[in-house]
Amino acid sequence: MVDVRGVHKNFGPLEVLRGVDLQVRTGEVTVVLGPSGSGKSTLLRSINHLEKLNRGYVSIDGELIGYRRSGSKLHELKEREVLKQRLHIGFVFQNFNLFPHLTVVENIIEAPVSALRRPRKAAVEQAERLLERVGLADKAAAYPRQLSGGQQQRVAI
Ligand SMILES: Nc1ncnc2c1ncn2[C@@H]1O[C@H](COP(=O)(O)OP(=O)(O)OP(=O)(O)O)[C@@H](O)[C@H]1O
Ligand SMILES: [Mg+2]
Repeated sequence: MVDVRGVHKNFGPLEVLRGVDLQVRTGEVTVVLGPSGSGKSTLLRSINHLEKLNRGYVSIDGELIGYRRSGSKLHELKEREVLKQRLHIGFVFQNFNLFPHLTVVENIIEAPVSALRRPRKAAVEQAERLLERVGLADKAAAYPRQLSGGQQQRVAI
């Protein structure tokens, strides 16, 4: 399902990923383990093309991510096309990226309403169902700073 081939990534002179190969099958759970600063987040960010690769490629379910192939060359996709691909890739940021000035429920409906153009009322109902599932039904109107770390993480998920 996830196929990472020969991925290289450097930030200036700092080589972070040096030819990473990783295959994850459907339904498989994979843990990437390593010291702080060793490149775990960079690898994950490379998988949904939040980082440009210096070499190698990533494909998900047979579809090249962030690039299209023409002959032996890879051309980077337009941001709009990458955004479409990302709609199918779940991703939880290491820092939760919640908007501090929005409540829990407003944070959750932001993407469905702004990006997917879903009706606000339906998005709120879905958000409330999801909050119920993760034990946060009573926190819908709270702001991120009023939540514990684990609660903020569940809102982000
Ligand atoms: N945008 C960037 N510009 C320059 N250097 C970066 C950038 N992002 C990450 N790095 C560097 O790349 C290396 C890998 O960072 P990364 O965030 O992938 O580590 P990590 O394995 O996720 O660490 P942690 O366990 O602390 O989350 C670090 O040395 C970091 O300083
Ligand atoms: Mg990290």
